[in-house]
Amino acid sequence: MTYEPTLEFAHRLDQADPLRAFRERFALPRGGRGEPLVYLCGHSLGLMPLAARGLVIEELDDWAQLAVLGHEHGHRPWIPYHENLRDGLASLTGARGGEVVAMSSLTVNLHLLLAAFYRPNGARRRILIEAGAFSSDRHAVASQIAWRGLDPQEALVELSPAAGTETIPEEAIEAYLEEHGAAVALVLWPGVQYRTGQAFNLGRIARAAHRAGSIAGFDLAHSIGNVPHALHDIEADFAVWCSYKYLNAGPGAIGGCFVHERHDPPHLAGWWGHEAGTRFRMGPEFHAAAGAAGWQISNPPILSAAPLIASLALFEQAGLQRLREKSVMLTGYLEFLLDRLAPDVALITPRAVDSRGCQLSIRIKGANGRGQRVFNALTAQGVIGDWREPDTIRLAPIPLYNSFADVLHGAEALAQALRLEP
Ligand SMILES: Cc1ncc(COP(=O)(O)O)c(C=O)c1O
Repeated sequence: MTYEPTLEFAHRLDQADPLRAFRERFALPRGGRGEPLVYLCGHSLGLMPLAARGLVIEELDDWAQLAVLGHEHGHRPWIPYHENLRDGLASLTGARGGEVVAMSSLTVNLHLLLAAFYRPNGARRRILIEAGAFSSDRHAVASQIAWRGLDPQEALVELSPAAGTETIPEEAIEAYLEEHGAAVALVLWPGVQYRTGQAFNLGRIARAAHRAGSIAGFDLAHSIGNVPHALHDIEADFAVWCSYKYLNAGPGAIGGCFVHERHDPPHLAGWWGHEAGTRFRMGPEFHAAAGAAGWQISNPPILSAAPLIASLALFEQAGLQRLREKSVMLTGYLEFLLDRLAPDVALITPRAVDSRGCQLSIRIKGANGRGQRVFNALTAQGVIGDWREPDTIRLAPIPLYNSFADVLHGAEALAQALRLEP
């Protein structure tokens, strides 16, 4: 597609966009004087689907009117509440229904699944992650290693990009596993890297891990709802995610996990993972519910799960494939405009469409805090992205609610910020 850097062109793309009506189904944030903001930060916190309010109020009303009876007699009874989320999550992750469950939160789920899947054995005790992994993932992995009496200095391996590069090609992961795979118990890799925006071919990583005899686990925080997944077909062992970014379920929303149906490792058990039919007999023995549902520990936070129902319905109506097609165009337009209007910033995110999702990460050159000043000048113009130390701005146009005009306004504001802070 040939892009043009004009508002007329952006409006033309918006008018031709078959998904444009979805924007009206979100609360679009405003600044202190009521002015509309250009929101390019859905990679951090997704916008609120308007229908979320009604769903949360419905739960509050059921609680008010039915109290404990809401467990069985609410509009959506609370006992099987997670079932409302199952099909939508399965479709976004490419899973079978029984392989996914909404539960708890990302890092907690990561701990639970590492507890089950990380089985160091003799020389095979390493966990392979990417250098510069999200801090919480690294903390979880390092503490799991230490918890088993092993030394994270030795057993935690962080694969770095080659010197002078920002991203890690799948070949490098494959090469590491080919050479050192016998020492690797588990590979934990992101679907999309949070800082660079690089999207990975998870099938290749899973196959390389399995060839080496290792477990393949994935953190989909930045990829679920952003790029399509096929976790069942690629035979991923497990995956975890949060729902407050691309899934638009609100701050601290319920997380989720995937466990491939071929697995049935011993569960860390709690009553909500017990098979539903006999859970309330309250017997001393744990009988796991089939599939991922058996991994639930506690009864779910209904008020933080309700908005996800609204969001998953929008994904279903829009269709992930169509969203991805629009996303490729939106992010491509942002890339084009940055090259045109802000040529002295460095794009960290891969230019290859298959190696990225919505997000572009740009490094602001210059010393003495210039990057932070440019970011502040961007924010002052009503464009919301985010800042990652020491020098990176992340911007993500989201196909469910961003327009091509948003992208143009965002890029023009960045160009202006760069001029203001030479
Ligand atoms: C890649 C990644 N891992 C872990 C986390 C931590 O998530 P939580 O606080 O929900 O456990 C985040 C949060 O943004 C994240 O992006």
